[in-house]
Amino acid sequence: MPRVIVAKPTGFCFGVERAVTLAREGLKRFGKVYTFGQLVHNPQVLDELSRAGIKAVRKLDEVRDGALVIRAHGCPPEVFKECEKRGIEVIDATCPYVRRVQEVARRLAAEGYQVVVVGERNHPEVRAILAAAGEGARVFSPRIKLAGKVGIVAQTTVGRERLKEAVANSLNFRYNEIRVFDTVCAEVVARQEAVLRMAKRVDAIVVVGGKNSANTRRLAEIARSTRKPVVHLTGASGLNLRRWGRFKVIGIVAGASTPARVVEEIARTVRNSGCDKQPSLRRSDSNE
Ligand code: F3S
Repeated sequence: MPRVIVAKPTGFCFGVERAVTLAREGLKRFGKVYTFGQLVHNPQVLDELSRAGIKAVRKLDEVRDGALVIRAHGCPPEVFKECEKRGIEVIDATCPYVRRVQEVARRLAAEGYQVVVVGERNHPEVRAILAAAGEGARVFSPRIKLAGKVGIVAQTTVGRERLKEAVANSLNFRYNEIRVFDTVCAEVVARQEAVLRMAKRVDAIVVVGGKNSANTRRLAEIARSTRKPVVHLTGASGLNLRRWGRFKVIGIVAGASTPARVVEEIARTVRNSGCDKQPSLRRSDSNE
């Protein structure tokens, strides 16, 4: 029977817990609740919310009654303005740490800095930060060309290493002035550091969370960088027990929007999966 180590912290992060609670409270208060896009990037949570009657919409036209929840990733200011114009009741579940990045970006822009965001160009959080900073704000790329005063912020879920690389790269551009704000979420950093520590004590690593969750994908990247066999799962049903039930020690790490009960279910499944042969996992099989 494999021994299982679950990396801490695990379960919902503060921002996801808050967003889910606000949505559920909104449902009780308004009777009908919509979320602007998926509330969190996790299939089990979305399924539960949908069964409770909380529906994700892509356009404000779809909101006819009740209230609209702004998810933890935040939204561009125009969305709030449009909701006000249309008389839509808003429950703002933007994570306070994400809002801080928006505020820093807005302030930098107001002080004449060209804002550069280190993060995933098409991620909703990054789009909202860019919108908060206004015209001229850009996503970092090694070929970016800017001049004058530059202010750098980071998407809350990028690895700190990526922020450091972007800053080191920017030093070559000879700007007049660079201001850097480390806006990576401490919760994200704690989980990333936990994988690296855990990798030294385990034979293989299971990463749990939505495939479209930026922080979970990053955990999987970090886990793979340790050269241990890694699998990224959304739930216990995705676990290939013939391959995974035979390691002596298996580490489990979860993204910030993965419910604790999903992690517990995977841990239980792994513990009960002992077989009589040795693992036959090839390195090329490891990133399922
Ligand atoms: Fe907020 Fe950090 Fe979670 S930014 S949503 S507490 S991962």
